[in-house]
Amino acid sequence: MNREYPANLLLTEVGPRDGLQNEKGQVPTAQKVAFIEKLVEAGVTRLEAGSFVSPKWVPQMADTAEIFQKLKRKEGVKYIALVPNRKGMEGALANQVTDIAVFTAASETFTKRNINATIEESLINIQEVVQVARQNNMWVRGYLSTCFVCPYEGKIAPSQVLKVAKRLLAMGVDELSIGDTIGAATPNQVTDLVSLLGQEAPLDLLALHFHDTRGTALANVLAGMQAGVRKFDGSAGGLGGCPYAPGASGNLATEDLLYMLEGMGIQTGIDLQKVVEASQIIAQALGRTLPGRYLQAHLAQASRNS
Ligand code: HMG
Ligand code: MG
Repeated sequence: MNREYPANLLLTEVGPRDGLQNEKGQVPTAQKVAFIEKLVEAGVTRLEAGSFVSPKWVPQMADTAEIFQKLKRKEGVKYIALVPNRKGMEGALANQVTDIAVFTAASETFTKRNINATIEESLINIQEVVQVARQNNMWVRGYLSTCFVCPYEGKIAPSQVLKVAKRLLAMGVDELSIGDTIGAATPNQVTDLVSLLGQEAPLDLLALHFHDTRGTALANVLAGMQAGVRKFDGSAGGLGGCPYAPGASGNLATEDLLYMLEGMGIQTGIDLQKVVEASQIIAQALGRTLPGRYLQAHLAQASRNS
C-alpha cells in the first residue's frame, strides 16, 4: 500500500468545539463567533461550531445555541454541532442547524465516562438522532473515539473498531471520523486500521482525527494519506482535548497540518496566515499562547523581526 499523495485534501476544523470544550475559563461567545467567522474567511468549509450536550458535563459548550444564533452563516459551509441524544437534537433543530455529528467510541469504559452509556445504549441514541436528521435533511458525521488506545483500557483491537464502525455505517452516516482521542497512535496502526475499514466502506466515507499528544499526529496523517484517506481534522492553534480523556491535550494543529501540506504541494483551499489570525483571537481570549508548533515558530519569528 504505497499510493501517491493526493493533489488536494478536505479538512474539518474542530477548534471551536473539540479545541475549546476542555478550557476551564469561559471564552466569551462573541470571541467564539469571531473565531469561527475568521476560520471561514480563511477558507474553512466545514467546522465544528459547538455541541448540544449537557452543560453540567461540558460547561464550555453551554452557549452553543447562542453561537448558532449570532453566526453569520456562509452558504456552502458546514457548521457542525455535536448531538448526543434526542434533547441535543431538539437544540439543533431549534437553532436551524443543518449539519450534525453523532459520537460514540470503540472502548466501553471511555463511552461510559464520556456519555454515561454503554456502546450499545449510545448506538440506540444515535439511531434515533440519525432518523430525525434524515427526516430533516441534515448531513451527519459519525465520530468513533479511542480507535487506537483508550485512556482506561489501553490498546484497542482493530476488530473492535470495525464492529462499532459497521454499526454506524449501517445507520447511513455521511462520513465517519476515526479518532485517536488521546494522541497515542503510531503510523503502522493507522495503516492497518484504514486497510481493515476500507474492506467495509469506501475510503471517501472516512476521515481521520488525530491528537498530537505524543508528537505522532503528522506522521499519522502521512500514513492515512498513503492508505487512501482524503479527509482529516485539525484544530486551530492546536487547541484541544476531550474532558473525559485524561491526557488528551493537543489536537493536531491546523497550522502544522497546513504547513506540511503546503510544502508538499497538496491543496486545501485554506489560507494558513488567516488561520493564525483566527488562533490569535482565542489566544487573546484565553490570555495565553496556543501550543501549535507552526504558530509558536511564526510568533517567535515575528517578535525577532519587530
Ligand atoms: P446523563 O447525565 O446520563 O443524561 O448525560 P440524562 O439523560 O440522565 O440527563 C441528565 C440531565 O442532563 C438532565 O437534566 C437532562 O435534561 C440533561 P436535569 O434534569 O438534571 O436538569 N441533558 C441534556 N442537557 C443538554 N443537552 C443534552 C442533554 N441530554 C441530557 N443533549 C449526556 C448524558 C450524553 C447528556 C452527557 O453524558 C453529556 O452531555 N456528555 C457530553 C460528553 C461530551 O460532549 N464529550 C466530548 C465530545 S466527544 C470528543 O470530544 C471526542 C471527539 O473529538 C473524537 C475524538 O477525539 O476521539 C469527537
Ligand atoms: Mg477529539
